[in-house]
Amino acid sequence: MLQYIMKGGTPLVGEVCIGGAKNAALGIIAAAVMADEPVVIENLPDVQDINVLLKAIEEIGAVVDRIDRHTVRIIGSTISTITVNSDYIRKIRASYYLLGALLGKYKQAEVALPGGCNIGTRPIDQHLKGFVALGGRYSIERGMVCVKADRLKGSHIYLDVVSVGATINVMLSAVMAEGSTILENAAKEPHVVDVANMLNSMGANIKGAGTDVIRIRGVQKLHGTEYSIIPDQIEAGTFMVAAAVTHGDIVVKNVIPKHLESISAKLAEMGCEVTEEDDAVRVVAKRRMRHTQIKTLPYPGFPTDMQPQFTVALAVAEGTSIVTESIFENRFKYVDELARMGSNIRVEGSVAVIDGVRGFTGATVSAPDLRAGAALVLAGLAADGYTVVDDISYILRGYESFDKKLQGLGAAIEMVESEREAARFKLKVG
Ligand code: EPZ
Repeated sequence: MLQYIMKGGTPLVGEVCIGGAKNAALGIIAAAVMADEPVVIENLPDVQDINVLLKAIEEIGAVVDRIDRHTVRIIGSTISTITVNSDYIRKIRASYYLLGALLGKYKQAEVALPGGCNIGTRPIDQHLKGFVALGGRYSIERGMVCVKADRLKGSHIYLDVVSVGATINVMLSAVMAEGSTILENAAKEPHVVDVANMLNSMGANIKGAGTDVIRIRGVQKLHGTEYSIIPDQIEAGTFMVAAAVTHGDIVVKNVIPKHLESISAKLAEMGCEVTEEDDAVRVVAKRRMRHTQIKTLPYPGFPTDMQPQFTVALAVAEGTSIVTESIFENRFKYVDELARMGSNIRVEGSVAVIDGVRGFTGATVSAPDLRAGAALVLAGLAADGYTVVDDISYILRGYESFDKKLQGLGAAIEMVESEREAARFKLKVG
């Protein structure tokens, strides 16, 4: 089993370059199959979730040509089936974007029920509500979600909850519907805007993405495009917290500072120096951080995908902090793992009460999901002694070369596959 082993205690210092946004890329890959002409996607992160989705579209007949590690050309004209069902597609959440994309293009789709990180119940009722409003019918059979429409017609849709997935999925299906769609209570995340921009570059007519009302005028056809994905807000935020928790000094490059405002503001409140440049953010943490309160909210609120990393930082901050998770009900599972490292956190429902301790001690812990896994790595880098993080397949789903980027900042960390490799690491690091 793949693990990360690390020896903590070294302040991380230097520059790190952030890749393309995974959660934008997933919607963008689905959008790409809607054109018959070639679509070139740049700044694609080389992470497991992306590679699985690319494999899935290849399996239904799309041509996927990896031009280089971060660039892919997709041709959707060769698609021969609307049924997406393979062992690996069931493991990722974003398989559901193929429902919207194939429904929009072919007026039918069958996709294995989505999996993904186990962070809550994660229903897709709002996605289905959107498809039905556009004239679709759905059924769930043999572990598959099947959607079909004789015609897709624009509609007025009000989402009951603010959902990134449902917003992107409704956009995908509505761009090729007849007439106009108004989507209210839409998610405003930067990756929603990125998918809309990408669809517009293919000839779609979407206005208002980034606000809570999105207006879509349907078009008959989408054409090819070349599109570069925005930087990953959560990868950037993770490295910003890495500076904070190790008392380091990191310049996080190739970012859009505006997308990081809620993260920067919290770090500043906790006592870090945060400076913004045009496309970089520098975080310097000279002393022990202060306690604070955090509540996760849809964008522009504090992102749920940064909650575990900040909880780790607050676990070693001075005083008592409160973190409230209001998006997913099951996102504190890593707290038991963190307790093995000496933290003092009480979880009551959706609230974590964190009594800051002086420091972590290294331990063997398991990553329960993607962001929690990354957070445990940060804890290990701040800890006294060796930490092993198991089950890192979760982390590999969303962080490209996480160990290599951390090594570049001076971290003593390696990915290992056996006891022997772990022993060799300890011998080397001393
Ligand atoms: C996306 O998940 C991201 N995943 C998640 O990132 C992220 O945590 C989340 O948005 C919130 O920002 C992808 O983009 C692939 P939602 P998604 O629909 O779309 C409820 C990561 O670590 N809801 O915005 O599944 C839902 O239960 C991952 O990269 C419904 O009730 O999230 C939740 O409480 C993990 N019905 C809330 O809405 C629905 O039909 C927000 O979920 C849909 C959602």
